[in-house]
Formats: sequence, C-alpha cells, structure tokens
Amino acid sequence: VVIKVAALCGSLRKASFNRGLIHSAIQILSEKSWMNRMEIEYIDISELPMLNTDLEVDGTFPPQVEEFRHKILEADSILFASPEYNYSITAPLKNAIDWASRPPNCWADKATAILSASGGSGGSRFHYHLRQIGVFLNLHFINKPEFFLNAFEPPFKFDSNGNLINEEVMEKLKGVPCSLA
Ligand code: FNR
Repeated sequence: VVIKVAALCGSLRKASFNRGLIHSAIQILSEKSWMNRMEIEYIDISELPMLNTDLEVDGTFPPQVEEFRHKILEADSILFASPEYNYSITAPLKNAIDWASRPPNCWADKATAILSASGGSGGSRFHYHLRQIGVFLNLHFINKPEFFLNAFEPPFKFDSNGNLINEEVMEKLKGVPCSLA
C-alpha cells in the first residue's frame, strides 16, 4: 500500500524557503528505499480563487477548486510547510484550507505534519493556529518531532532559489515526513 502525502506551501513566493523544505522532504523520501511506500505530491494552491460561497453552484465548485479538493480527498496524509504572517497562518493557506473544508470536509481523519521556516520563533505561532483550525477539520497532527526554523539567522540555510542547502537542517527535517509513515 502506498501512503499518499499531499504537501501544501503557505507562501506563494517563487523562492519560498518553505517550498524548499517541501522539495527537500520529497528528496529525503526518494532516497529512503524503505520509504518507497510513501509518495509526496506538491499541491500548488496559488491558482485557487479567493473563497466566495457564491462560486458554489448546486454543490459544485470552480474547476481549480474541484481539482484541489479531489487531491486532498485522495491523500492519506498532509504535510504543511509555511511561514507565519503576523503571528498566524498565511492568507493563501487559510484560503486553501477553507475551500477544502466546504461540505463534505476533505480534511477529516488525515495524519498531518507541519514544517515552518519563518522569522524569530521559526513560525511557531503558525503551528499553533493551524492546530486550532485542525480541531474543527478533524486533522490528526503528529506532535513530534517539531520543526521550526529561523530562516534569517546566519549561517544562511537556503540558496537564492529557496533550496535548503544546510546539512544539519536537512538531518533535522528528515524525521518530519518520515513521521507520516
Ligand atoms: C512576515 N514574516 C513574519 N515572520 C515571522 O516570523 N513572524 C511573523 O509574524 C511574520 N509576519 C509576516 C507578515 C507578512 C505579511 C510577511 C510577508 C512576512 C516574515 C516571513 O517569515 C518571511 O517572509 C519568510 O521568509 C516567508 O517564508 P517563505 O516565503 O520564504 O516561504
């Protein structure tokens, strides 16, 4: 049985550090032969319209939303990677979460892990706000290992394209996608 993981990034920046974390997670799993039974798919949320329930007609959603909801529904597990914006979850990620929460809720019962690269506290406040939202969605969060990364503290951990280039952080990151197995 292959465990399907849907990976969502809360930043839309081309050179997002958090998208870099997802790419590293994908790379980590591809290198672990015992992890062949896990597949991570990066799901782009940048084309989703802003949530407006007027866009729902007779229980159907705009095509990009239908496609997104389908990908969440068919995933077994979710990997979120995001900065915090103003001590909370980013607007693009909340928008995506809200779309897939419309009935029937696509998030229910999925194992969920969180990564974050942000400023000062490494995005911890995003983690805790996401966990609160997840109570209503019925997501099942993996509590440990926790992964918060201050992306601005030297030495720099990412290259100019947002790729993770620091071995120590890469080691620390490994436990998170693997915890979804
Ligand atoms: C931020 N940033 C930020 N960082 C933080 O640690 N705590 C915060 O509350 C905020 N607030 C915030 C608000 C807004 C609107 C922006 C645009 C940024 C900084 C943020 O962590 C930083 O830009 C990260 O690099 C973003 O991650 P990506 O885009 O590299 O994945």
